[in-house]
Amino acid sequence: MKPIESFEQVPVAKVHDYWNARPCNIRHSPKPVGTREYFDEVEARKYMVEYHIPGFAEFERWKGKKVLEIGCGIGTDTISFARAGAQVTAVDLTEKSLEVARQRAKVFGFEDRVRFYQANAEKLSETVPVEKYDLVYSFGVIHHTPHPEAVLEEIRKYVTPQSTLKIMVYNRWSWKVLWILFVYGKGQFWKLDRLIAEYSEAQTGCPVTYSYSRTAGRELLREHGFETTKTEVDHIFPYYIPEYVQYRYRRMWYWRLMPRFLFRALERAFGWHLCLTARPK
Ligand SMILES: C[S@@+](CC[C@H](N)C(=O)[O-])C[C@H]1O[C@@H](n2cnc3c(N)ncnc32)[C@H](O)[C@@H]1O
Repeated sequence: MKPIESFEQVPVAKVHDYWNARPCNIRHSPKPVGTREYFDEVEARKYMVEYHIPGFAEFERWKGKKVLEIGCGIGTDTISFARAGAQVTAVDLTEKSLEVARQRAKVFGFEDRVRFYQANAEKLSETVPVEKYDLVYSFGVIHHTPHPEAVLEEIRKYVTPQSTLKIMVYNRWSWKVLWILFVYGKGQFWKLDRLIAEYSEAQTGCPVTYSYSRTAGRELLREHGFETTKTEVDHIFPYYIPEYVQYRYRRMWYWRLMPRFLFRALERAFGWHLCLTARPK
């Protein structure tokens, strides 16, 4: 599959600057950043809003195993793996995210279970020692780098035939893309890739955001040596944003009217997160 030209040409430095200016989920709590209360609230909010993550990551399954996490951000999943008893190597492009994630490992006493590296995942092996891992995990990351295929080629160096790969990339055929297209884009479908990047995150103007259909996601993995064993789609953000940023959780009226089972069915059909579990071919 040919990558989208304009994203392919974005310098990684631009991706770095975007995420370093505002690490992902950094405002998930109003408490002072770096305190135990702050981290507890960040985790509670993340797993309340993105409740499918523990089921996808299967944190408990990796007890006593080696986990390589690519794009750890401020370390919410990193600490969940460490807490479950895994030995974790966590990588991120940005020093700001790593500073917070390191502090988090310190606060919870997991410094001996997590090694952190600042690295560009497209050139992972230039920085992170090549060792074999039981799980390579990357949640919401490789669609933000100009060359996702380079990341997958790097990941191959860190796996054995028994390893598992779990990645989340954005789902192109999702409610969120439809929302972006009509609410922000006024239907200008020919600008869809740019529109998605502009509005995919809490902060506008993300330099790179690829999105994949289920087939395209599996194909991306297949082209780089991985066979998908499970494909799951989940996550529709249902809250009023002006209240959500004030830490109040009121659903939009149409989601409130909808029975829970129907909402869950829609999330599984048109959710924003395409969660792929794979093994090396
Ligand atoms: C949406 S955040 C996700 C963070 C974390 N996985 C989570 O779920 O909270 C994307 C992260 O990917 C990182 N990232 C983007 N491109 C990267 C690259 N080429 N190498 C390493 N990390 C990268 C960013 O710095 C950012 O922390």
